[in-house]
Amino acid sequence: MDRDRPARVSFDSLWDNKLRILGSGSYGDVALVSWNGTPAALKRAKSSLDYEALEDEKKILSALKGKGGAPRLLRSFTDPPAIVMEFKGDKSLSDVQNNRSDALDIIYKIGCRLQEIHEAHFVHNDLKENNIMIEGLNSDPKISIIDYGLACRPGIKIDMTGEPSEYPWYAPEVFKDLPSTYATDVFSFGVLIENLLNSQNKLLSLVNNNPKLSKVIRASVHPNPKKRPRLPDLLSHVEALLKPAVELATSVRPSKRKLIMSPEHPCNNTRQNKRPRYNFRRK
Ligand SMILES: Nc1ncnc2c1ncn2[C@@H]1O[C@H](COP(=O)(O)OP(=O)(O)O)[C@@H](O)[C@H]1O
Ligand SMILES: [Mg+2]
Repeated sequence: MDRDRPARVSFDSLWDNKLRILGSGSYGDVALVSWNGTPAALKRAKSSLDYEALEDEKKILSALKGKGGAPRLLRSFTDPPAIVMEFKGDKSLSDVQNNRSDALDIIYKIGCRLQEIHEAHFVHNDLKENNIMIEGLNSDPKISIIDYGLACRPGIKIDMTGEPSEYPWYAPEVFKDLPSTYATDVFSFGVLIENLLNSQNKLLSLVNNNPKLSKVIRASVHPNPKKRPRLPDLLSHVEALLKPAVELATSVRPSKRKLIMSPEHPCNNTRQNKRPRYNFRRK
């Protein structure tokens, strides 16, 4: 059966027959539903205030057409505001990041997915562990970046409000009424890399032994977006380390080395399931 064919099914019947809740945030609820016999994710806005964010997400998913691993849009409803999209599996990076021996490969694949989003001229603006889904075999993980509720074109201000230290994955500029750019995502990607490194001693040693990569990762979380590396440059440093890392993972025993970041660094206390309110009216 063609899973993309618009079904006549109503929102209520989909929601009432949901298989389970996949996630519930401050903006919406996401349920696993059956869409023409295939698993799909149904996301509904929690209140009419969140309608605009869901409308934006719908347009961006349509424009991305699967780039960045973005779930393909299958259907949308207006009353209540909701979207049906491809199901990207049960595992997010938050679920697996402590016990993967292929963390560097995962970092590289996330970066490539992010690059696809940038090549489609979008900034994601909310790159963090539970917005990254991982499917497939451990030997060949498939990465999907989800949650485009904050995504925008580069140069747009998303006008975030909230206490920045509580949301360490957001770049400082989004709290300062400055425009989002690709560098805004580089910051979040840098925080994500640091979190992964701090959960993996072996990988941390490897990166600390590579001054160029350590430097470029540190620069990616620079408060000034102009001082951050371009994503392709950051990725080329990761790529350079990738092959030796695979070899090392099978030959070297883990050893404790200095952390790239001190324990009091705010990124060591990432709070994953919150995000501050933001002004829906994009400037
Ligand atoms: N397409 C999807 N496939 C699988 N799980 C999803 C999908 N969309 C959302 N989820 C799950 O629901 C959670 C919340 O969805 P998300 O789009 O991130 O909304 P929020 O704005 O509340 O963070 C995600 O962290 C993920 O676990
Ligand atoms: Mg999310």
